[in-house]
Amino acid sequence: MTVTICIGSSCHLKGSREIIQKLQELVCQNHLEEKVDLNGSFCTGNCVKGVCVTVDGELFSLKPEDTETFFEEKVLGRLG
Ligand code: FES
Repeated sequence: MTVTICIGSSCHLKGSREIIQKLQELVCQNHLEEKVDLNGSFCTGNCVKGVCVTVDGELFSLKPEDTETFFEEKVLGRLG
């Protein structure tokens, strides 16, 4: 599974760094390094709401405080 976090300037201001750090921690804690590939991307033009994060190409907008819920639902939930 590929999870891409936008590190463009608008997303950066909304906390993309924090989201990346949290996701890295969660991936480690769950021993998913082999299964989840975390990437950064430049602006994809979806800066309106929150930080742009895609999971296998599907787009989500996150706030840093949503990271854990997002991880549980969209990452752990999909890996089954
Ligand atoms: S800066 Fe992230 S989508 Fe534009």
